[in-house]
Amino acid sequence: MTTPKSRDLFVSRLGILAATLGSAVGLGNIWKFPALTGQNGGASFLLVYICATMLVGLPVLVMELAMGRSQRANPVTAFRKMSPTGYWWLIGVSGVVAAILILGFYTEVVGWVLAYIVSSATGSTNSTDPAVAGQLFQSLISSPWESVLWQWVVFVIIASIILRGASRGIERVMRILMPVLFLLLLMVCIRSLTLPNAMEGLRFLFMPDFSRIDGTVILMALGLSFFKLSIGMGVMLTYGSYFRSDVNVPVMALRVVLLDLLISLLAGIAIFPAVFAFGFEPTAGPSLLFLTIPAVFASIPGGQLFTVVFFILSAVAATGAMLSLLEAPVVWLSESFKINRRKATIATTLFFAAFGVPAALSAGVMSDVTVFGKTFFDLYDFLSSNVLMPVGGMMLCVFAGWYWGDANAIKALSNEGVLSNTGIIRTVLFLCRWVSPVLIFVVLLKGLNVF
Ligand code: TRP
Repeated sequence: MTTPKSRDLFVSRLGILAATLGSAVGLGNIWKFPALTGQNGGASFLLVYICATMLVGLPVLVMELAMGRSQRANPVTAFRKMSPTGYWWLIGVSGVVAAILILGFYTEVVGWVLAYIVSSATGSTNSTDPAVAGQLFQSLISSPWESVLWQWVVFVIIASIILRGASRGIERVMRILMPVLFLLLLMVCIRSLTLPNAMEGLRFLFMPDFSRIDGTVILMALGLSFFKLSIGMGVMLTYGSYFRSDVNVPVMALRVVLLDLLISLLAGIAIFPAVFAFGFEPTAGPSLLFLTIPAVFASIPGGQLFTVVFFILSAVAATGAMLSLLEAPVVWLSESFKINRRKATIATTLFFAAFGVPAALSAGVMSDVTVFGKTFFDLYDFLSSNVLMPVGGMMLCVFAGWYWGDANAIKALSNEGVLSNTGIIRTVLFLCRWVSPVLIFVVLLKGLNVF
């Protein structure tokens, strides 16, 4: 194992914030949050989502970051050190598997985003006719070469950043990308809000409809808060291991949660007024990004520019998320097998890219190949979001709340007694012990269609 001294650390507080926020921010803000909010009761869903994030997401994020910082190691080694005789290190292993699955489909979507930056810049997406948009998207996703090639371009980009390490790679890039993301989002928001009928879109997003709150909606909000904050897989634990010893972890986690929420809201404000202004149906997932958005912006004066900006913004948002998903397995491989970072990055990327191919081909030549009735793309999504993330998150909570020990948690969260935040620590531990695991367990059963 590498000694802590030779481990890279994030250098500045702003860099720590940018990198951690960068992992949380991703396609989840752009195509999951706005659509789920709009379709499940607007402001009332937002309220439920905020409660879920505060009661479950935030405490788990705090504990994950704190455990990582206290152990200064990859997730597998960190759990081995905290519990030498138990099997808790399997949480780290499940995180590596989940990272393979998530990156398998995530990189493909980002590949399509890159392809769309090119085609919107050359004007080929510039049509308000949904049929034309549909054809363009279909021809992209069904072409095996184009799909795999774009996916590999994405892998090469993130691998070349990861190669440089935590501070010189991730931190440096995210310090530039996060402000760029805010600027681009604001630009699209202003354009969208100055369209006729903008109020209609805002009403869709923010009108509370409390009658819509039921068990399913609450579980959806919980699942979203998990995916959003990148928790339950050891990814945040890995980032915590690069935190400086003087960072106030609960405060940093709260900042990440609030800024992530702000980005989600801005994404909703950028998208829905425009969608309503031109009478489109608000949808979720790939069709929102690749069919609705180009058609909507094609109707706006100067729309081609905004389409390009929107796809660049999506790629920027997704980059930090992908970096964190690659970083955790790379350090695990490098520290556990004493391989240098360069070799570990190349080996991990090649392995992950091979797993990504079936997902890339699943809309085209492999669309008939299904496992449990799902294409590889859907299977990766299902296994990671509905199985590994909740199982990993629940075990992580149980470990943090019940096994790690109050003394260790207090030491880690108070920076060895420097901070006087006992009340906050007690609240976090209480939530991790009694509230979060129970709620996550219910999410897990729901995700597996048990009820
Ligand atoms: N949080 C990212 C998003 O909203 C996705 C993501 C990145 C993720 N890393 C993760 C999800 C680790 C779970 C675990 O798009």
